[in-house]
Amino acid sequence: MLEELSLLKTIALSELTTAASPADLEAIRVKTLGKKGSLTQILRGLGQMNDAQRATLGAMANAFKEEFAQTLANRMEHLKQAELDTRLQREWVDVTLPGRPRTTGTLHPVTRAQNEIIAIFTAMGFPPASGPEVESDWYNFAALNIPPDHPAREMHDTFYLPPDPEGHKRLLRTHTSPVQIRVMKGCQPPLRAIAPGKVFRCDSDITHTPMFHQVEGFMVDEGVHFGQLKGLLEAFLVEFFERPLPVRFRPSFFPFTEPSAEVDMGCLFCHGQGCRVCKRTGWLEVLGCGLIHPNVLANVGIDRERYTGFAFGMGVERLAMLKYGFPDLRALFDNDIRFLSRYA
Ligand code: FA5
Ligand code: MG
Repeated sequence: MLEELSLLKTIALSELTTAASPADLEAIRVKTLGKKGSLTQILRGLGQMNDAQRATLGAMANAFKEEFAQTLANRMEHLKQAELDTRLQREWVDVTLPGRPRTTGTLHPVTRAQNEIIAIFTAMGFPPASGPEVESDWYNFAALNIPPDHPAREMHDTFYLPPDPEGHKRLLRTHTSPVQIRVMKGCQPPLRAIAPGKVFRCDSDITHTPMFHQVEGFMVDEGVHFGQLKGLLEAFLVEFFERPLPVRFRPSFFPFTEPSAEVDMGCLFCHGQGCRVCKRTGWLEVLGCGLIHPNVLANVGIDRERYTGFAFGMGVERLAMLKYGFPDLRALFDNDIRFLSRYA
């Protein structure tokens, strides 16, 4: 019995000191001290012993239990420490590395310019309005005094869509002027509005993109005249560019205005010397405008004898290009984050 116990002690303690995990330790404990464990088996023999033998074996068994408990606790401590060390090693973070900057979104330069334009006109008393990007022929052309076969339709490089179920022509609006019609139809003067939005033309070079943004503005009342239009646009441009810049009103033609003008800004890329951007003219067109044609007022049921109105439509990308100083409009739509964040 004594030999058996001494053998058990050697084996059990050596197993404890080499156990690889807390689960192994528990298994050794059950195997040794559990109800059916080796020590329990040995102690079953106590009954057949005399007092002296029993006392010796009992004392040895108690000493063994104590040593067993102590060894187990030491090994457990060691395993926990080792596990912590591996975790620390694995989850090690170099706090001296530079931080990763959080990327934050910014507004697209076109959105920014458009918001600034809207803010300026809203402050001048023009409430925002909007209309659909898919338009009928009537709103985009006919109501604006551009009948079918009118040569002005050529200037617009229209994208046509399949006709609607009733057979009406549909198209992507080529300008924001149809919103004038939508606002004026069924309303009576005094009227004012601005209408920002996307427009589409089959056109692409450094100052033209097939999709671009315009802001339309108009006012109809008794006695509205060209001087008011000119004063308003000049005041707007000073506000938008935050300084007075060379501007010229150039006589032009639109079927829906009479008289008509286009407004050019002195080219800021060559300071009027002539370059690729201004096609060597020294000027860059930013908007079209004029006094609303009496036929247009009549088309929407406004008394053309009593009322007059002005209207304008500006190119947002062109204004952004001049304000932020990038020479190719198409860069706005390449989605190159380096370009976009430079002008954001
Ligand atoms: C018009 O679209 C008229 N509807 C403007 C108007 C409104 C006149 C109300 C009178 C009364 P135009 O085609 O010139 O006009 O375009 C207006 C502006 O849009 C141009 O001055 C230019 O700044 C911009 N623009 C025109 N085409 C493009 C294009 N493809 N890409 C970028 N900007 C363009
Ligand atoms: Mg034009």
